[in-house]
Amino acid sequence: MKKIEAIIRPEKLDDVKETLNDHGIVGMTVTQVMGCGRQKGRKEVYRGVELNINLLPKVKIEIAVNDTDLDKVIDVISKTARTGQIGDGKIFVYNIEDVIRIRTGDTGENAI
Ligand SMILES: Nc1ncnc2c1ncn2[C@@H]1O[C@H](COP(=O)(O)OP(=O)(O)OP(=O)(O)O)[C@@H](O)[C@H]1O
Ligand SMILES: [Mg+2]
Repeated sequence: MKKIEAIIRPEKLDDVKETLNDHGIVGMTVTQVMGCGRQKGRKEVYRGVELNINLLPKVKIEIAVNDTDLDKVIDVISKTARTGQIGDGKIFVYNIEDVIRIRTGDTGENAI
């Protein structure tokens, strides 16, 4: 099992969420975050406005998936969130030790 943590542009969230849903991925955690990449201190356009600050608003999507779904989810997020401009975001992948569904006690892949 893997945890995918994707940092994307806020305006791409609806698109990414819908496309993931279309591919059968429904469980996720979404957080509004601030971040910067390698253009620290350089200008980036956000909602048509040029910002010259280090930390820009981004959205973090966390998704736990079975290994078989990993490539699909990375593909969907990459294609849907890409504009080709700097600041499109990044995807981090982690190993998951275990998952427990609190209501039923299901564990591992059954709990995802
Ligand atoms: N090394 C990192 N560690 C943690 N978070 C990061 C890292 N790089 C990027 N992020 C997060 O991803 C967001 C988007 O990063 P961004 O797309 O600007 O990366 P980049 O490496 O600068 O690529 P690009 O050149 O396409 O802009 C950042 O605002 C930050 O929240
Ligand atoms: Mg950047």
